[in-house]
Amino acid sequence: MSLKNNKNNIVCSDYQTIMRTNLCGEINKSFAGKEVTLCGWVSSRRDHGKLIFIDLRDFSGVIQLVFDPNFDIQPYNTAKDIRSEYVISVKGEVKKRTEYTINPELATGEVEIVTSKIKIFNKSKTPPFTIEKKENIDEITRLRYRYLDLRSQDMQKNLRLKHDVIVSTRQYLNSKGFVEIETPILAKSTPEGARDFLVPSRLNTGKFYALPQSPQLFKQILMFSGFDRCYQIARCFRDEDLRSDRQPEFTQIDLEMSFIGIDDVINLTDGLIYSIFKEVLNEEIKLPIEKISWKESMEKYGTDKPDMRFELLIRDISNIFKNSKVKIFKNVLDNKGIIKSLVVDDFSKFTRKELDNLVDLAKKNGAGGLAWIKIEKDMNFQSPIAKFITESEKRDLIENLNLKEKNLLLIVADEFIKACSVLGVIRNYLGNKLKLIKRDEHKFIWVCDFPLFMLDDTGKRLSPSHHPFTKPDEKTSKFLDSDPLKVMSMAYDIVLDGKEIGGGSIRIDDINLQRKIFKLLKVGTEKIEENFGFFLRSLDYGVPPHGGIAIGLDRLVMLIGGLDSIREVIAFPKTQSASCMLTNSPSKVSGEQLKEVHIDVIEEKKE
Ligand code: AMO
Repeated sequence: MSLKNNKNNIVCSDYQTIMRTNLCGEINKSFAGKEVTLCGWVSSRRDHGKLIFIDLRDFSGVIQLVFDPNFDIQPYNTAKDIRSEYVISVKGEVKKRTEYTINPELATGEVEIVTSKIKIFNKSKTPPFTIEKKENIDEITRLRYRYLDLRSQDMQKNLRLKHDVIVSTRQYLNSKGFVEIETPILAKSTPEGARDFLVPSRLNTGKFYALPQSPQLFKQILMFSGFDRCYQIARCFRDEDLRSDRQPEFTQIDLEMSFIGIDDVINLTDGLIYSIFKEVLNEEIKLPIEKISWKESMEKYGTDKPDMRFELLIRDISNIFKNSKVKIFKNVLDNKGIIKSLVVDDFSKFTRKELDNLVDLAKKNGAGGLAWIKIEKDMNFQSPIAKFITESEKRDLIENLNLKEKNLLLIVADEFIKACSVLGVIRNYLGNKLKLIKRDEHKFIWVCDFPLFMLDDTGKRLSPSHHPFTKPDEKTSKFLDSDPLKVMSMAYDIVLDGKEIGGGSIRIDDINLQRKIFKLLKVGTEKIEENFGFFLRSLDYGVPPHGGIAIGLDRLVMLIGGLDSIREVIAFPKTQSASCMLTNSPSKVSGEQLKEVHIDVIEEKKE
């Protein structure tokens, strides 16, 4: 039963009340002969004519109840009318089952309760799906009837796992001298990358609060106020496109520390992760968690979120094609681009259609194309570009990439980030397709030494790799004016199984540097004052060196729970279109309410 590993050392007897003596899931053969009173939901009912069986469920498990008219007719008659999801209480004696009737599928399968008393607390309509058998039910139905969905053992397990991670986090951070401090939800628009959710103010006509994208500036200000170390299990709100690991509102383990350097935050976080794994999962992870630079991560894994559970490394082959007759290779190299490759074991695993799909995948992710070469018998190169590859280039490829017969060589030529990231997507695709990923293990990695800026989608404007409060690395900050893309940052991300579970940085603590960064990001003077004026002023009154990190709690729990969607660890999540199916939000509000907050809605014209 799940109570054994709970973090508060709660035992089953803590659940004893005036209505029940025990929990369904705790009953086993050591209870044989004892009388118990249980409460819960009817999971299923089977009428065998002479006997009625009911599976009774509470959060701890399921137990079989038997209603025998020869033993007592009254509970038997009541049980006739009982249906799934009725809420009942029963009293009865625990009996060992006969050898033939033991149910090995149930933790309580060696016993059953012979019922002497039954009480119906509440009836239920026929539920739209069977609680424990929802594989074929679409997610929208599950979300619409979330109260039913959450009754399942899986959902109970997921949310209790999240609870345990929170308890463990609090215990660890408290033991390291952190203070838990809340910061406002009705906050100010201080853009951090995503769109804000806005809340109109009734008392201040035409003015809006913004829900925090993270407590970033507040936690920094708490450092300015001398708290030294603080944390928060913080709700964050971001109006951005949703994915299986993204929700518009989510929770971060958010922490900030004073008088520290990068290694202090990393060591502290290593300790936090170790302690969560040890206490919640009873697993020991190896410390220190390895580190990789952003550049190496891009070069070898094609992403800043490398999945370290499988090898398949990306290799640079630019040198081999210095004088290539393949036009696109030559053009790319002449324009300071690179040529990157992946070698896959066995081309026979790829039909022509699958090769075309790989090419499409590369194009969808922004590459001009993807070249493939099959290494056939006697090391013959078979490929649409084979005739343009010289014998000496072939020899170099074979030697450098250690090519063997049956290998499939995939090549992308483009500028650095594009070439790496397209092969990164293909690497992950192949990791799944070829079952290379060791799914029974977890692999953490720190990614460090990020560039301070990236170019935005237009390719013309700088945008921060993390956020504008990240401190430039001292060695490269001299390039801020001359070549800002050369400046590295003091930021770090922690990645688990190919997903970013956390990110943080050492922060700027100098008002002039902070102003300069805003300027480089082309944030107008007025906007700086409007959005960040309060923050800049606070930098003027004695600020300690400080830094921190935020770990995505939902994402972490999703991964350690082995789940595919973040919605499985959030009690009431939003759908892909940011709607709540249970409450039907967002929804229209009355004209009266709109008037109070001084809002006029302009209906969108239907085309
Ligand atoms: P960042 O934006 O990287 O950093 O967020 C930190 C972590 O939060 C999780 N996360 C999300 N989880 C679910 N849904 C989302 N929409 C979502 N967005 C982010 C990720 C991510 O790694 N203020 C900085 C932290 C800092 O510098 O201290 C911040 O919020 O797991």
